[in-house]
Amino acid sequence: MKSVVIGASAGLGRALAEELAQRGDQLFLVSSNLDDLAPIAADLTLRYGVSVTVEAADITTLDPEAFRDKVHAALGPIDNLLLIAGISLLDKDKGPMPPADLDRLIAVNFTAPLRIANVFLPDLTQSPAGNFIGAGSVAAVRGRRNNMVYAAAKRGFECYADSVRHYLAGQNGAKVQFYRLGYLKTRMTAGQKLPFPALDPSEAAKSMVANMGKDLGSVYLPRWWIGIMSLIQALPWALFKKLDI
Ligand SMILES: NC(=O)c1ccc[n+]([C@@H]2O[C@H](COP(=O)([O-])OP(=O)(O)OC[C@H]3O[C@@H](n4cnc5c(N)ncnc54)[C@H](OP(=O)(O)O)[C@@H]3O)[C@@H](O)[C@H]2O)c1
Repeated sequence: MKSVVIGASAGLGRALAEELAQRGDQLFLVSSNLDDLAPIAADLTLRYGVSVTVEAADITTLDPEAFRDKVHAALGPIDNLLLIAGISLLDKDKGPMPPADLDRLIAVNFTAPLRIANVFLPDLTQSPAGNFIGAGSVAAVRGRRNNMVYAAAKRGFECYADSVRHYLAGQNGAKVQFYRLGYLKTRMTAGQKLPFPALDPSEAAKSMVANMGKDLGSVYLPRWWIGIMSLIQALPWALFKKLDI
């Protein structure tokens, strides 16, 4: 299989690249820094004998069509698109924030994934066993006064993934898995005091790769977050508004 991982230099994206290399996928990896990507590519090629091409780019300024052409030059049409890159700005995203920060949160978490997906939809419609995989967040399930813009962007991305699932239904066979991720042990949560346990990114990646080929739509990862988020969704407004979450 031929797989593109957006946000492959750290955390979950890096763990996914490793899992995919282990099963023999040809990879195209993207993140903003070549110094991070080059050793990862060399390591995966050495250990698993797979071809790994890298592109250092800020996905918010990437020209999607030129990017797709580079991917096609390296791999030809792809089977799997993994849109994993994301950022949060926890300290600022709790009310009014500098407009440039608001724009960046939306660009990385919403606009860029959609612009990239848009140019690869034809590949996915042609792949007999392809996958569209998106990294969402439990933060998007019910809006709160923390992570306001991040959550809105992730919810928008999730809505787009629903649409892609509907678009791909009845075509050649590509499937959608969109993950409402709980806490992961990555730099995004480093130093934070978390109210619930964080999942190791390699465990998350194993589950996600095992799920490839399944028509899942949106699911929680880990699955036990469904209990927490169902409770949070069910809380009456009078109570919810008093919570500092
Ligand atoms: N960690 C959590 O607890 C948690 C919880 C819920 C959801 N999520 C979501 O899960 C996904 C993965 O999170 P993570 O914790 O693994 O994050 P991470 O460790 O911070 O890694 C993020 C990856 O995305 C890349 N990236 C970010 N902005 C980019 C940009 N503008 N252009 C190119 N690459 C960019 C980073 O590369 P560079 O360093 O080169 O920018 C890096 O490879 C994200 O979408 C996140 O929102 C995470």
